[in-house]
Amino acid sequence: MAKKAFITGITGQDGSYLTEHLLDLGYNVYGLVRRNSVTEHQQSRLENLKKNVDLTYGDMLDQSSIDKILNRVQPDEIYNLAAQSHVRISYDIPQFTAQTNALGVLNLLESVKMHCPSARIYQASSSEMFGNSRDSDGMQRETTPMHPVSPYGCAKLFSYSVIRNYRKAFKLFASNGILFNHESPRRGSNFVTTKIIKNAVLISKGKAKILELGNLDSKRDWGHSKDYVRAMQLILSHDKPDDFVISTGQTNSIRDLCKIVFSKLNLDYEDYVRVNPKYVRPEELSYLCGDCTKSKEILGWKPEYNFEKLIDEMLEFFLKQY
Ligand code: NAP
Ligand code: GDD
Repeated sequence: MAKKAFITGITGQDGSYLTEHLLDLGYNVYGLVRRNSVTEHQQSRLENLKKNVDLTYGDMLDQSSIDKILNRVQPDEIYNLAAQSHVRISYDIPQFTAQTNALGVLNLLESVKMHCPSARIYQASSSEMFGNSRDSDGMQRETTPMHPVSPYGCAKLFSYSVIRNYRKAFKLFASNGILFNHESPRRGSNFVTTKIIKNAVLISKGKAKILELGNLDSKRDWGHSKDYVRAMQLILSHDKPDDFVISTGQTNSIRDLCKIVFSKLNLDYEDYVRVNPKYVRPEELSYLCGDCTKSKEILGWKPEYNFEKLIDEMLEFFLKQY
């Protein structure tokens, strides 16, 4: 019989790629969707998939909605991707961020305990939880201490911890994927990769003049969402619940990204990029570089995309669009 997967955050970047991947593997896919006044726009990433998935209105802040769905669907696997996922915006709406990203996960776990205790749960944990902590070799791994530096990171650390707590206390199959930054043509336009690539293309077409950014010196370990959703399914297919880092092990600065993208368009980024303090964060996470040896060895996972290939795919997408 086909496995049933329930995805929260199904309308997001990862939710849409994960849906495609699970449908390809023969799963029946169910999703939770928030009410939005412009339905068509909100579900645009699912446009070609909608007829194959069962979507239900709900919200991580409304426990009754989660209860009803889990009781009806009785999923084999639950992927909790729902979150207020923008780190800088978590300073603007810290309470909503904490309620959704932290307490929302507790709501989900309580519902699972009540309605489908044998379901396997994947929690979308984040490298933002490490804050500015790293090991002596400069990398972050499963054992690296976590000292988050944003309301987003603090809320994600709560959910990471409560997943581990319920795993032990109530014997739930609850796992954390500690994912480093991952991007794609479906990435929201206010994350730095899309913002740089889309605006560089607009500048190259004479449709924009400058690009305003925040800190150019922070470094990120960027992978592709398609590779990372494969890891999510592998994490839940493992024989026991555990925590896994998913990363590329390659790190680049925002400045590097600007340099590469603009030069691919035969432009010099220094002529167009300006720093606007509006985009600088109250506290910055300055360096991420993940060691995913554990995932490679135990799950047999490895990324197919590198930094260059990711940029090329995103550039090609925006060049076609404009
Ligand atoms: P995304 O594109 O921002 O998608 C977030 C999803 O969560 C959207 O479907 C959103 O619905 C939904 N959502 C937000 N608040 C909700 C609420 N209160 N109730 C129900 N749904 C809610 O994020 P993503 O890049 O796909 O990331 C997926 C998950 O992985 C997130 O938890 C994120 O924090 C985590 N993560 C991401 C990365 C990364 O680099 N992408 C790295 C590590 C961890 P709407 O469409 O209605 O807004
Ligand atoms: N968004 C944004 N906009 N970031 C900028 C800008 C700008 O104009 N200018 C510089 N940056 C810098 C940020 O200060 C940060 O150091 C870096 O670019 C990456 O920012 P984002 O793309 O917004 O990603 P993030 O690292 O803060 O968070 C993403 O990755 C996390 C995993 O490490 C999100 O996807 C989180 O949901 C995820 O958990």
